[in-house]
Parts: sequence; C-alpha cells; structure tokens
Amino acid sequence: MYFIGIETSCDETAAAVFTDELRVLSNVVASQTDLHARFGGVVPEIASRAHLRNLLPVIDEALSRAGIGLLDVGCVAVHHTPGLVGALLVGVSAAKMLALALGVPLIGVNHIHGHVFACRLAAERDIFPCVGLVVSGGHTALFRCDSALSLTMLGGTRDDAAGEAFDKVAAILGLGFPGGPAVEREAAAGDPTAFRFPRTFLDEDRLEFSFSGLKTAVLYACHGQNVAKAAPPPPGKKRADLAASFQEAVVDVLVGKCRQALRRSGLGRLAVGGGVSANKLLRARLAEMCSAERAELFIPPLTLCTDNAAMAALAVEKWRLGEFAPPDLDAEPNTI
Ligand code: KG4
Ligand code: ZN
Repeated sequence: MYFIGIETSCDETAAAVFTDELRVLSNVVASQTDLHARFGGVVPEIASRAHLRNLLPVIDEALSRAGIGLLDVGCVAVHHTPGLVGALLVGVSAAKMLALALGVPLIGVNHIHGHVFACRLAAERDIFPCVGLVVSGGHTALFRCDSALSLTMLGGTRDDAAGEAFDKVAAILGLGFPGGPAVEREAAAGDPTAFRFPRTFLDEDRLEFSFSGLKTAVLYACHGQNVAKAAPPPPGKKRADLAASFQEAVVDVLVGKCRQALRRSGLGRLAVGGGVSANKLLRARLAEMCSAERAELFIPPLTLCTDNAAMAALAVEKWRLGEFAPPDLDAEPNTI
C-alpha cells in the first residue's frame, strides 16, 4: 500500500512516498532558501507562490524516485497544520484534488507531531511512550508522547522559537539566511565562554522557554547601546565568539529542559525533531545528557530533521485507525 505525503507549511515544498509498513521510498524537498535569503526571513506570499510552481514537479519526482505511478497511490497525506496559512493551502488543495481524482482516502497530519514521528521512522522501531522536543523555526515545545498520535504539550516558548533566535542572531551578525547553519559554522571558530549570555528559566522548575532576551543580549554585546546605527560586525574573533557563546546558551537551555522533562515524566526516552536538531553541538550534548540520565535518545538524520514530507508517514497510524479527513479539510495555521 503506497502513500504520498505532501508538505508545504513554510518554505520547503516536499513530497514523499512511503508504505503502510513505514518504508520511505522517496523523500523529495525543493528548498526556497534562495528566494527568501535577500529578505533575511521567509516571506509568506513568496513562499505560497513558489509552492504553486514547485509542488506538482516535486510530486512527480517523488513518484518517479519511488518507482511507482500516480495510480498506484492508495492514500494521500498532507500536513495541514500548523504553518503559514497561504503556504499550507497550496498543499492542502493539491492533496484534496489528488485524493478526489484518485478516489482514495485523504489524511490530515499535524506537522509538529510529524517532527516527532520522524524519530520513529528513523528508528525503524517503536519509540513511544517518550518525551518529544520539537525545536524549529516556528516552534520550541516539549511534549509527553504516549503514542504517535497522543501528544500532550508539557510547555513551550513564551516568545521566540529557538530556530527563530538562530535566524535573528545570524541577521545581527550579518551571517545570512537561514541562520542556524550559518551560526553553527561561525561558532566553530569561536570561544563559547567568551560571553556569558542569559539562560532564561534554566534554573527554574518549569518547562518553558524564552529566547527573546538572549537575542537582545547578543545585540547589545555586539553593538553596545548604539544599535540603530550599527552595521554587522566584521569577520573575526569577536563575531565567532558571539556566535559560539549564543549557541552554547541555546543548547544549555534546550538540554536542561529536556533533562527536566525526562525526570518529571519518568519516561526513559527522548525524541527530538525540527530544524534546530540538525545542530551538531545540540546533538552531542543531548547524547551526553541522555546517557547520564540512562534515557534512550532518538534524533533522526538531517534529512528527516528539517521540514520534509516523509514525516507525514504519521498518516499511516491514522489510516490504521480509519481516521480519514473530510473532503473539506482546511489549512489551520495555529493549531498544534
Ligand atoms: O523544522 P524546520 O526545517 O522548519 C520549521 O518548521 O520551522 O526548521 C527551520 C529552523 C530555522 O530556524 C533554521 O535556522 C534552524 O531550523 N536550523 C538550525 C540548523 N539547521 C537549521 N539551527 C541551528 N543549527 C542548525 N544546524
Ligand atoms: Zn518544521
């Protein structure tokens, strides 16, 4: 039984083919990074238009890499929430059209839950129950995941998401977009102890995050109070130190909150997803922490960390339960 999955929630146009046994046969992602780079962030209208142009070729490519034809598809899955509404609408409309034309079921999948499910896909075995951390450009949240479909939020960010902080700090440092990989590269040459940036809520017994103060602290450390006139710092030791010290602070907080969530929940497994989980320092520190806590860590390979459509294989779990979407399935920008 072949499924096609569709992802258009933000700035990646993606399609994947997978089976009811959770074998991923293709996972195609067309990135729009170049279109958004000169604006320093994702421009929603540009994202929607690019999805319109890219989606059908990406679906064709996913089918062809999987070695199947459109008529072999038995179910259509789509990330319909959360995300940019105009971007989501492109994927949802295409999925509805495909399901209707093929006469097969349609399943709506939550993109955030999909990020946790990417860990299940990569592990090729059951990972539930577990603590889930989703850490991306739009979300930073901890979940108690009793099963693939039963997620209870333990806490989230009160302001910026961790990926958003990476992107904004990259802009302050003049490192370009997307910020996460650029800050990580810059940090490699820096001293993570050069600046002592705030670790908000780290020592408090609460599963919440806040990265906006950290971002402002980087801004002031970079430019002093003369922020309005400031140009990005030149390449050199200070810039690398700022990047490394910032990255260290984010990683300290994320790892500390995962430790708290594991201890509080009594669960012995941690599943991590979302674009920021591509960060090597975060991966290494989470591995150390989980080993000290005697917890099992699940982090997918990079292609399954950042936005993709294979993680829509969560639809297979819904398909087993007969949880099909109505034909009027809508894009829901804000629902987790
Ligand atoms: O999950 P994702 O691909 O899209 C959203 O759903 O947001 O995450 C994108 C975010 C961006 O903010 C990007 O800067 C961040 O993930 N990111 C990273 C790294 N790679 C991507 N952050 C830190 N280190 C990285 N290596
Ligand atoms: Zn995402």
